[in-house]
Amino acid sequence: MSDSTKSNLNIHKTLNANSSRQAITRLIHPDKTIPDGFQSVQPPVYRASTVFFASTQAMRQRHWQDDYDYGYGLHGTPTTYALADRIAELESGEYCILAPSGLSAISLVNLTFLQQGDEVWLPNNVYGPNKDLIKQLQTQFGLDYYLYDPLNADSFQPSSKAKLIWLEAAGSVTLEFPDLVGLVQKAQAANVLTVLDNTWGAGQAFCPFDFSDQHLSVDMSVHALTKYPSGGADLLMGSIVTRQRNLHLAVLRMHALHGIGVSGDDAERMIRSLPSMPLRYAQQDHSTRELAHWLRQQDCFVQVLHPALPHAAGHQYWQQVCGSNNRAAGLVSVQFKPEFSLQQVDEFCDALQLFKLGYSWGGPVSLVMPYQLQHMRQLDHDSTGILVRFCIGLEATTDLIFDLEQALYKTLN
Ligand SMILES: Cc1ncc(COP(=O)(O)O)c(C=O)c1O
Repeated sequence: MSDSTKSNLNIHKTLNANSSRQAITRLIHPDKTIPDGFQSVQPPVYRASTVFFASTQAMRQRHWQDDYDYGYGLHGTPTTYALADRIAELESGEYCILAPSGLSAISLVNLTFLQQGDEVWLPNNVYGPNKDLIKQLQTQFGLDYYLYDPLNADSFQPSSKAKLIWLEAAGSVTLEFPDLVGLVQKAQAANVLTVLDNTWGAGQAFCPFDFSDQHLSVDMSVHALTKYPSGGADLLMGSIVTRQRNLHLAVLRMHALHGIGVSGDDAERMIRSLPSMPLRYAQQDHSTRELAHWLRQQDCFVQVLHPALPHAAGHQYWQQVCGSNNRAAGLVSVQFKPEFSLQQVDEFCDALQLFKLGYSWGGPVSLVMPYQLQHMRQLDHDSTGILVRFCIGLEATTDLIFDLEQALYKTLN
């Protein structure tokens, strides 16, 4: 407003400068402010939709591409940015975007990078809902998807339309460790984006941005923080980590367009669980291997699936990538001999007492889930017999073994 406009305005003053504000206003704008400088172990929880700007100039200067954009609560708060920084650290990446679940992180990647006519490649043991989503996108937007065998890099045959390959190490349920080195090398040669579902590795088993002695890197790592980082089986969240700013900004744009975010309370709970995560992961790994060895001694199974076991599918690739850390997640599956019916295997699962029937992993309670592979795989190596996956919690291994023993005895004898 120019000075001349200002002087022509006739503004009525009804109150003098000393009038105190009404009580209702002072409840909203208190006279006293709490001093800064309080320090505690956990960061404070910021909850916001509205975020104040110091001035119109500050409001106009902010940009959605800013690393810590304090523009609207949905896009980030100090609490969610603190968590994002820690997840980037956990996976040795540079940038991290948080999503409300692991599946929404997967979905964001697909919706950011895939367009009509593109070709996308999925491992045949991919996390099922990712494949369901791709099928939906195929119907709605007309893209092509292909399945490859994660143990055979030659089965990945990208055409010039190939845009993105999903990698999963180890694969969902059947736990084959893929030929990560061969697949990433092939994708890089064909200029195909590499995206790893790193929920199993969780930043503990190997570094997605620098693995094998050839220092390979994937382009993006997606992590269902719901599992190990949460650790309590009571918190859902996902992340997308990369070292490449252009990829980060592309996902960030789609994230904003979707109107999704995570709450400060959930972020703080996740931050609280992170320090114990490496210890929990190591403990669950240790217990799972003990159980895997015990399971191998039982003669009701065709095979015990765990990538650190020497006979397991993809063991050599696990060694190549995870050998130096010697880490594996707390998951082990068994394939029952074909003579056991689905009903018998269901009865075995129901007879377990400490193992609860439920999805997900990484929590304190051990879980069990039966699967019929023929409904899940297209390129099975050997899909006869029912498969049961165990997710090992934090109970004493001897108690878990006793539980398995009593259930096997009760139902299969
Ligand atoms: C390998 C893998 N990726 C992603 C997800 C999705 O995570 P969320 O349950 O947080 O959506 C899961 C969940 O089971 C999973 O097992």
